[in-house]
Amino acid sequence: MEAVNIIHRWLCRSPKWARFAEQTLVPGLDGIALGADVLEIGSGYGVTARPLASRCEHLTALEIDPELASGLRDRLADLGERVTVVHGDGTRLPFPPERFSAVVCFTMLHHVPSTALQDRLFAEAHRVLRPGGVFAGSDSLPSPRFRAIHLFDTCVPVAPETLPGRLASAGFTGVAVQSESRLHFRALKPAPADLRA
Ligand SMILES: C[S@@+](CC[C@H](N)C(=O)[O-])C[C@H]1O[C@@H](n2cnc3c(N)ncnc32)[C@H](O)[C@@H]1O
Repeated sequence: MEAVNIIHRWLCRSPKWARFAEQTLVPGLDGIALGADVLEIGSGYGVTARPLASRCEHLTALEIDPELASGLRDRLADLGERVTVVHGDGTRLPFPPERFSAVVCFTMLHHVPSTALQDRLFAEAHRVLRPGGVFAGSDSLPSPRFRAIHLFDTCVPVAPETLPGRLASAGFTGVAVQSESRLHFRALKPAPADLRA
């Protein structure tokens, strides 16, 4: 089964989704200090990466699909050295520990095919964050339309009530989860001083 089916691919590169990403998804991070060196996991066609890049000094856009990753390099080429596109897997991040000031992801967690792999992604996000860094993002919540879009597609929605415990198990503190129209989350990798408190 493909991670993302053909209908989904069409939606993800539509002007409507790009507007939603720019006007709603990425502004969902307002008030969160991302710092200079941000990693986005699951950048797809880059509609979240582009507005994200204007919120930090450097964005690393990670994408598991080799064709999407290659297309992303072309799509974001105008941003020059401010963006690096990496072909890789969020559950096995090809980065050293404590590299990033923030890790974010949008509408990708449900494409990770099991809760065990999602938990591995959370642990990897924690590993590559600097102490004090933030892990944040959002995902869709299940609905009949959402299920229809994902026919024959990888689709393992994150149950909002489980997320605080799962992020805490990965080592995060200060976890906030909200699930009105979408699932929004933020969590901190504690700094050593926080652990002593
Ligand atoms: C629905 S798209 C969302 C793309 C973009 N964040 C947006 O909001 O438009 C999800 C993307 O996550 C990618 N993806 C799925 N599993 C991944 C993984 N384990 N590591 C990195 N990317 C992954 C998919 O290939 C797809 O491009």
